[in-house]
Amino acid sequence: MNDNTKKTITSRRSFMKGTALAVPAFMIVPRHVLGRGYTPPSDKLNLAAIGSGGKGWSDINNAFNEGKENVVALCDIDTKSAERATKKWDKAKFYKDFRVMFEKMGKQIDAVTISTPDHVHAIAAMAAMQEGIHVYVQKPLTHNIREARMLTEAARKYKVVTQMGNQGASNPGQVQMQEWYNKGLIGNVHTVYTWTNRPVWPQGIPVPTDKTARPDHISESDWDLYIGPAEMVDFHPLYHLFKWRGWWNFGTGALGDMGCHIIDPPFRVLGLGYPTEVECSVGQIFTQDWTPSYIPEGCPPSSQVQIKFPASAKNKSEVTMIWSDGGIRPFHPSLIPAEEPLSGTGSDNGVIMMGEKGIMTCGVYGLEPIVYLNSGEKITMPKDYATDNPNEKLPEYGHQVSWTQACKAGFGSKEHQRLTSSFDYSGPLTETVLMGNLAIRSYQTSSRKDDRGRLEFDGRKKLLWDGKTMRITNYENANEFVGRKYRKGWDLV
Ligand SMILES: NC(=O)c1ccc[n+]([C@@H]2O[C@H](COP(=O)([O-])OP(=O)(O)OC[C@H]3O[C@@H](n4cnc5c(N)ncnc54)[C@H](O)[C@@H]3O)[C@@H](O)[C@H]2O)c1
Repeated sequence: MNDNTKKTITSRRSFMKGTALAVPAFMIVPRHVLGRGYTPPSDKLNLAAIGSGGKGWSDINNAFNEGKENVVALCDIDTKSAERATKKWDKAKFYKDFRVMFEKMGKQIDAVTISTPDHVHAIAAMAAMQEGIHVYVQKPLTHNIREARMLTEAARKYKVVTQMGNQGASNPGQVQMQEWYNKGLIGNVHTVYTWTNRPVWPQGIPVPTDKTARPDHISESDWDLYIGPAEMVDFHPLYHLFKWRGWWNFGTGALGDMGCHIIDPPFRVLGLGYPTEVECSVGQIFTQDWTPSYIPEGCPPSSQVQIKFPASAKNKSEVTMIWSDGGIRPFHPSLIPAEEPLSGTGSDNGVIMMGEKGIMTCGVYGLEPIVYLNSGEKITMPKDYATDNPNEKLPEYGHQVSWTQACKAGFGSKEHQRLTSSFDYSGPLTETVLMGNLAIRSYQTSSRKDDRGRLEFDGRKKLLWDGKTMRITNYENANEFVGRKYRKGWDLV
């Protein structure tokens, strides 16, 4: 942002940031006269959305909070996908290119939700933050580790209020787990199991080679915007909508989809930091007998990842975390009775933290937390368990509304500090999740064959990580996956 721009982003936005809680001099009618729940227009944020269909619809709708904020701009490359939003906020300006939206309306927009496929998160969030606009960015925060570090630093630099869209972070279950852990119920934790039933979309399949015409409502330039920083490929329904998750060019696979929800409770409760080691094992793909397919462009159909963490200020033990996806679950610990589910209803996704004095489990989003003590006692969360989150009963535990309230209260405010997933927290969490992907991509890579023509895989090893400098120290080639190559004109700076 140049200095002139900085100076002009003042008036209503400085009101929203610095002095939002002060009563403006021009407000003559006392608020209580206007009725309960009424928010004067001057107290409302001007919101925008980048990615207005799919999850983007509920992100902007939850932030809008039944009219407590204004929606002034919507951005999507796909008019059909965005239709529900453009119909609801028909006065909002509609853009296909977020760069044009910021150029034209940057000064009027206070805060933006970003709910595009993963490969666009960082570039859109950075553009917003450089305009001084607060950001809510879907999980995983970014497509790669370097981007997560850059966004974390940028949020501090530009003094904007941030939240990642791992809504389970605002779930009371997580508060309960922290309370149980802080009381010392399970003691120090040495092993954590995390798992998911993802991928639930085609993944581990050959790269599509058939030509599929773009739908009429998506023009060539819309597709160019969709590709954004990624490598150009022709339109295919396996890339847009939803199924982009299974391709490294756009998505981050099963780990990227669910890791920020599932690894969140142990990462938070145990106060974990940068990992030190990562290793993985990846499901093979066979389209002909005995010859495994080599498809490094696609995320694998299943994987298991082991990540090691040093002891933290909260947890005085090193931690080994085992992640599995593709529906592979951990085995039943002896403390959980055989007839009980592993992690509550369904157990499709879950967490088990193994401690010295017992174990703590929960499902996805920190739902249904349970403690099983070595003594045989089982402790569940009281039905009326209350937290100090005033927005707990709102959709997604008020994760978006807590963010809009913090945007109004300003950077560094009490409301900002109380956010459960601002980038100070969610940046390192995302780096940890994407560490697993770095190992998977290293495992998938082969640059040569042995003398019988079989692929050789040098990257199939335990990788050692230096979190501070963001480097794999024992296998140079893996460092390629710390960041990514950006398409010309789409560099992240
Ligand atoms: N927190 C959650 O529970 C949750 C749930 C689902 C998805 N997500 C996250 O939300 C994001 C979107 O996922 P989805 O399932 O909604 O995907 P989707 O493909 O269904 O929808 C993405 C939307 O973004 C639009 N879009 C794509 N590129 C764009 C660009 N460059 N500019 C503007 N708009 C663009 C698409 O047209 C579409 O409307 C992902 O990061 C995903 O991980 C989070």
